[in-house]
Amino acid sequence: MRRATPHDLCLGIETSCDETSLALVSDGKLLAHVLASQSDLHALFGGVVPELASREHYRYIGRLFDELLERASVSPKDIAAVAVSRGPGLLGSLLVGVAFAKALALGLSIPLVGVNHLHAHLLAAGLEQEISYPALGLLISGGHTNIYRISSPSSFRALGRTLDDALGEAFDKIGNLLGMSYPSGRLVDEAARLGNASVSFPLPYVRNTNLDFSFSGLKTAVATYIEKNCSGLSVQKPVTDVRLLPGEILDLCASFTHTVAETLAVKLQRAFRQENDIRFCLLAGGVAANTTIRGRIRALAAENGAGIAMPSPALCTDNAAMVAYAGWLLRQEGLFHPLDMETIPRGRAIPDDYERDPIFSGDTMSKASCLCR
Ligand code: KG4
Ligand code: ZN
Repeated sequence: MRRATPHDLCLGIETSCDETSLALVSDGKLLAHVLASQSDLHALFGGVVPELASREHYRYIGRLFDELLERASVSPKDIAAVAVSRGPGLLGSLLVGVAFAKALALGLSIPLVGVNHLHAHLLAAGLEQEISYPALGLLISGGHTNIYRISSPSSFRALGRTLDDALGEAFDKIGNLLGMSYPSGRLVDEAARLGNASVSFPLPYVRNTNLDFSFSGLKTAVATYIEKNCSGLSVQKPVTDVRLLPGEILDLCASFTHTVAETLAVKLQRAFRQENDIRFCLLAGGVAANTTIRGRIRALAAENGAGIAMPSPALCTDNAAMVAYAGWLLRQEGLFHPLDMETIPRGRAIPDDYERDPIFSGDTMSKASCLCR
């Protein structure tokens, strides 16, 4: 096992939804990672129950911390900084992780770094390959569809976002209409690979000059098409094997996916032109697993002379490795948060309220006094 370099060992804590996860990053590399998923518990209720989620985080976080240190063969005093997802997410869940992180920061006299969970998703690819900046970040998940300009790990500027449905929601809705169980994006993707994009849907919300998205019109157009053309087809539900689906449905999935990929390409190309100094394209979120979308964005980045990074599937879902890594990157810039750092629930903007170590800012104040403000 790799030994930690104690001076830069960053602990990451993730409790924003239904995964309790902790990880250690040292020298920009993942040293150890533990995760307890609550998905089986919430599946009984058909969705995440916030009150249960926070109780489960509270139940597991202490023992996961012990397990992580044992796996990495380090002791608490080796930890140089603690990073935590501070939002967006479920407030009660986030508070468990943030309170644990603040207690460690105070008890061990180490800096606390609040991490924007969405930024951490986009930065995660850096654990697997080198990233050059400025980069464009495309976050496509069940809850978000955002484009960012990323000038450095600490400098994100939102360029565009969805005005209605997140892209993952659109995939799940179409899958649901076709008899696939939730979340159905992966099955729509598999079906699309077997079909031809023979049905033409207009690219939604591209006749403008902005970088925002709107997928609700496309979702309705596809739903109407399904009702008119697919309702008489014989399909065994729930769909588990897409090879058994009629050709018309495979073609519809291919057409929908193609329309989405082209729409993303139009907006990303616009972003490349607008920003004109982009060196990299970062793709993240559950929908980034989509084969057609990955292929289209890869080609677009190459056309623009930019590199591309998409985290491997294990790093795409919620995990603390990305939080520890984002925290480690922010610590390279000397950034930290005071102990009164706020926790930010979904729907509220996350403030850019880092403070900087005196050695980086030229301030003469001691590290201990920074931490206690
Ligand atoms: O980021 P994520 O894992 O979690 C949340 O946003 O909560 O994203 C989940 C979303 C779901 O809507 C799921 O259907 C979609 O990602 N998804 C896909 C694929 N794999 C997962 N959508 C399209 N193609 C895929 N291969
Ligand atoms: Zn997430």
